[in-house]
Amino acid sequence: MTRKKIVAGNWKMNLDYAEGISLFSEIVNIVRDEKKGDQLAVICAPFIHLNSLAKLGGDTVKIGAQNCHQNESGAYTGETSAKMIKSVGCEYVIIGHSERRQYFAESDELLAQKTVIALQNGLTPLFCIGETLDERNNGTYFEVLKSQLTNGVFGLNAEDFAKIVIAYEPVWAIGTGLTATAEQAQEVHAFIRKEIAAKYDASVADATSILYGGSCNPKNAAELFAQADIDGGLIGGASLKSRDFADIVKTFNA
Ligand code: 13P
Repeated sequence: MTRKKIVAGNWKMNLDYAEGISLFSEIVNIVRDEKKGDQLAVICAPFIHLNSLAKLGGDTVKIGAQNCHQNESGAYTGETSAKMIKSVGCEYVIIGHSERRQYFAESDELLAQKTVIALQNGLTPLFCIGETLDERNNGTYFEVLKSQLTNGVFGLNAEDFAKIVIAYEPVWAIGTGLTATAEQAQEVHAFIRKEIAAKYDASVADATSILYGGSCNPKNAAELFAQADIDGGLIGGASLKSRDFADIVKTFNA
């Protein structure tokens, strides 16, 4: 079973419109010239940028949103629906990023609803899980991750689960420069895959792409991505530099 290799950038709340277009154009040009292989490059941008980026990216760089609302439509002032995101040509949506869980109090149950609505609208959820530093240090991280999976995505049937991507982002490694070691990340990725196999079956687990996120950069990507259960990365800071992001994509060059 060959699962998809994916390098996805998460721009978070950075870059005005002109800056976003300019950075994205650079990324598309470098990736088009230098990527060799079938790895997927994805940029998850602020809503404001999505329509234009989706037209510029073509097949070279796919586009994703960073969030969506859990309902199809309605009186939810200020929100953006999965259908709207899909309608501008996006293919992906990040769901459950730790910043959404932490600053916007998004619960596993809410994230489960967002996952369902994203799938119903033909988007691929990049579903994030991850433990805090306290949870890592007190040894409860496997329980925490299992509960995020159980309550967030294990309600899906196997057919729907097969359409999602999991991203393991230890909260203590996000934006801190503290990357999980390749061994620490591999340990957790293998655990996630084992839990997927226990919930569904080995073939579903084998086919699921599991990305690592947290201070991933061109220097550490090769070692991380060489691990048996790491299928790519979700990249924050380094996705704001075209050369760095493209170099991480190139880690998978054949
Ligand atoms: P950094 O790569 O900046 O640590 O961010 C990771 C992240 O949160 C991606 O979603």
